[in-house]
Amino acid sequence: RIVYVNGEYLAEAEARISIFDRGFLMADGVYEVTSVLDGKLIDFDGHAKRLQRSMDELDMRAPVTTEELLDIHRELVRKNEITEGMIYLQVTRGSAGDRDFAFPDPETTEPTIVLFTQAKPGLADNPAAKKGIRVIGIEDIRWGRRDIKTVQLLYPSMGKMMAKKAGADDAWMIEDGFVTEGTSNNAYIVKGDTIITRALSNDILHGITRAAVLRFAREAQMKVEERSFTIDEAKEADEAFVTSASTFVMPVVEIDGQTIGEGVPGKVAPRLREIYLEESR
Ligand code: PDD
Repeated sequence: RIVYVNGEYLAEAEARISIFDRGFLMADGVYEVTSVLDGKLIDFDGHAKRLQRSMDELDMRAPVTTEELLDIHRELVRKNEITEGMIYLQVTRGSAGDRDFAFPDPETTEPTIVLFTQAKPGLADNPAAKKGIRVIGIEDIRWGRRDIKTVQLLYPSMGKMMAKKAGADDAWMIEDGFVTEGTSNNAYIVKGDTIITRALSNDILHGITRAAVLRFAREAQMKVEERSFTIDEAKEADEAFVTSASTFVMPVVEIDGQTIGEGVPGKVAPRLREIYLEESR
């Protein structure tokens, strides 16, 4: 695999980052995951804008312009012959050559930028989307700025492991009784013909897929309500689903062992998946 590190395209074994990099020592970094279908980037502009916002919120300097970023994405897709898959991008604050809680001077410290591809043949035709996934509810104990896409992913990883241990596929996180989001996706329920998902705030990541799916839903005259819902309300819903760059729209058919609807994907989530794949590729 050819990867990109600080201005160079290298074989992955040749890539090197300092052990003092703040991304490594302090999770002082942000990331994006952009999907590729038919060799084309999906929603690149949205991901680039959110990356800029994440960096701004953390007073991080952008290592490259958006135009350069687009070129790097395209070059990696080409060099690695990706037709279906993902591109992972990470920017960290870099390092001043030592460990220090204070941010180093941005004038003299180069941020670190790394990109690599992940080939996922069959991403659009994912069989899981036909069966649906099972989730469990877990407490959301993450920090209060989940709108910033930081590489601080230990708790979401632990959540995923809790789900696996419970025989499920993923976890929905709950704060003050209300579902915030999935470990790596936004969460939705459907009641009657209304799609319900938590409103944007610092409590959740502002999903790029979420924005597109809600836009397509509204364009298709579907009803959308942006409000919080409890895990109990979700268990009584007609349908449930999640969205992300890596899963698009994925039906949820079980929550804490309780069947949602008929226990198979309903009408709304598969239709939204179809519309999303059609409109965005
Ligand atoms: N995760 N919420 C969280 C906590 C996420 O980590 C993600 C994405 C989303 C969905 O955002 P988007 O639609 O922009 O992908 C919501 C990526 C895919 C990941 O960590 O791999």
